[in-house]
Amino acid sequence: PVPVIIDCDTGVDDALALLLAVRHPGLDLRAVTCVAGNTDVDGVVRNTLTVLEVAGAGDVPVGRGAERPLIERARSARHVHGEDGMGDIGGLPVPRRAAADVDAIALLRREILASPRPVTLIPTAPLTNIALLLRTHPEVVRNIERIVFMGGAVATGNATPVAEFNVWHDPEAAAVLLTAGVPITMYGLDVFQRVVVPGADIRRLRASTDPGTRLAGELLAHRPSAPDPDGDDPSGGLGDAGAVCAVIDPEGIGTRLLPVEVSLAPGPTRGQTIVDRRARPGEAEIHEGGRQQAMVHVALDVDVERYVKLYLETVERTD
Ligand code: BDR
Ligand code: CA
Repeated sequence: PVPVIIDCDTGVDDALALLLAVRHPGLDLRAVTCVAGNTDVDGVVRNTLTVLEVAGAGDVPVGRGAERPLIERARSARHVHGEDGMGDIGGLPVPRRAAADVDAIALLRREILASPRPVTLIPTAPLTNIALLLRTHPEVVRNIERIVFMGGAVATGNATPVAEFNVWHDPEAAAVLLTAGVPITMYGLDVFQRVVVPGADIRRLRASTDPGTRLAGELLAHRPSAPDPDGDDPSGGLGDAGAVCAVIDPEGIGTRLLPVEVSLAPGPTRGQTIVDRRARPGEAEIHEGGRQQAMVHVALDVDVERYVKLYLETVERTD
């Protein structure tokens, strides 16, 4: 299996991502690290421990990370993820354990360097922990296979008209990530928003006798999406779990290697990922206006049915 670490802000769809990673036999989830984003970092730690416990992965180490972005204050997304950050779905057990003795940055360093095979990092949250890791322990880069992150947008944003939440929440951290010198895949809003599970499947998950499968159903039901968000049988977005799909089954996304730059300017463009689609394929490096721009594998297309099938088959496994 591929050794992976998820850095998250659980978060309804981060929870969906964790459930997938725990249950897929092709992944070895070595640790989960937590950062402030959808809710405060202590809430993220609690939610993460709960999800892992329900999924039967109560032994995966969990690290508490940054309380706030590098420069700005933390701004929660309670309007999307509920008061508890988990959609206020209720009925969740209080976790029986606490976070690891070491913090997220130390845990990331330890697990990356200890892994016999290079690790794939899957950030599904603001990139504060990852930026701190890369600046504090640059030696980790030699044992990172790639970073597949949920964040950014080629077209339209969600936190602002042009900026996606994870990048907008800590743009400086995202800029550090992009220039890390490791292969990076951007699973941005353009694909993120397209992968939705039909209402009939969600109903089946909610009726399962397995607590992990049922939790996936409850969480998906909290993410009603088009075409009929208020109808009787709304579909639900996989969100961050799509980035985990992209690690399990990279062929399910269509990517192009393109220069990407984060807008750090104050004002209406702050946090925008500027993707240069003018670039010619195969061009190694772009220099413009004296700046070197990072080359990123940007997901522009996704096979929705393939990822929905992958998700359902995996979370409905109970063996
Ligand atoms: C991202 O923001 C968070 O609210 C979600 O969990 C996802 O990671 C989408 O912009
Ligand atoms: Ca998230």
